[in-house]
Amino acid sequence: MAVLKIVEVGDPLLRKVSRPVEEITPRVLTLLDDMVETMHKHDGCGLAAVQVGVLRRIVVIETVPGEIHELINPRIVAYAGHQEEAEGCLSIPGKAGITSRPAAVTVRALNRKGEEVELTGTELLARAICHECDHLDGKLFTDVQIRSLDEED
Ligand code: NI
Repeated sequence: MAVLKIVEVGDPLLRKVSRPVEEITPRVLTLLDDMVETMHKHDGCGLAAVQVGVLRRIVVIETVPGEIHELINPRIVAYAGHQEEAEGCLSIPGKAGITSRPAAVTVRALNRKGEEVELTGTELLARAICHECDHLDGKLFTDVQIRSLDEED
């Protein structure tokens, strides 16, 4: 496993739309492992492949220590309610903001075995699912924040 370099805001790659994974190859599995290690190294609770320079629809999320969700080709299929809470991003170091997100989100994806999985999250997990899926469409939390938490802004 390896810690990968994180692409930071200002790099046009973060604004690109990621492509679906067509086949779960050994390369995809290595990428998943490396993304988890990179997320851990930076104490993040989620990471999208584009953030390590790979334009594929892959995200990893860990909002509860030890509960790692590896989602390939994730798509949000249901959402409910509303929450306004703080959010940050490993690609936007030092910044945080309050975002408007659904209170609960259900996502469907493939796991590393190619099996269809469904995950429903509330609170932080719902925010993380939305945040990471947004990355796959070139969107950043600063696009949906309703208030910056940075003093200089
Ligand atoms: Ni992010």
